[in-house]
Amino acid sequence: MVRIILVGFMGSGKTTVGKALAASLGVPFYDLDWYITERYHRTVKQIFDERGEEGFRDLEQRMLHEVAEFENIVLSCGGGTPCFFDNMDYMNSLADTVYLKAEPEVLAMHLRMGKGVRPLILGKTPEELDAYIREALVEREPFYSKAKYTLDVSLLENFTKIQESVRLIREQINI
Ligand code: S3P
Repeated sequence: MVRIILVGFMGSGKTTVGKALAASLGVPFYDLDWYITERYHRTVKQIFDERGEEGFRDLEQRMLHEVAEFENIVLSCGGGTPCFFDNMDYMNSLADTVYLKAEPEVLAMHLRMGKGVRPLILGKTPEELDAYIREALVEREPFYSKAKYTLDVSLLENFTKIQESVRLIREQINI
């Protein structure tokens, strides 16, 4: 049975690598934010606007418990998921967890290029974004580091490197 959960900061490539990993293993791919959006017919931004971050975190935990029980999946969770409640311990208890680790500069570059609306960084100037990433990473790193495996994806920029991360994750998990 394959159950792999990718964790890491926004812009670390969880969705990109997760999709490629799932395809390589021949199992379905789930993205927790998408799952929440489907179940509640609301974007993450709408949920933040309507219920605040606290409301979102409650819902996120509930949905994590729903999806993480599925068998034979690759799941990418939100950047904040491991950092609330006992979510990281919960994920470790039932899955192979992988931390996609990236330097703040790489995260900032990916986030500036990204098209998705992310409520926590909406409207920030490049300088504010850099500062936010650095501060949040210090707080979040201890949670991410609890993952069973870590892959440094700082150099991930093209298709070959995505395939290379898939290979390295499979090698580490031995799957
Ligand atoms: C968040 C990351 C987002 C999303 C929400 C909050 C965070 O997911 O869950 O905007 O707290 O870092 P991605 O990491 O997929 O962007």
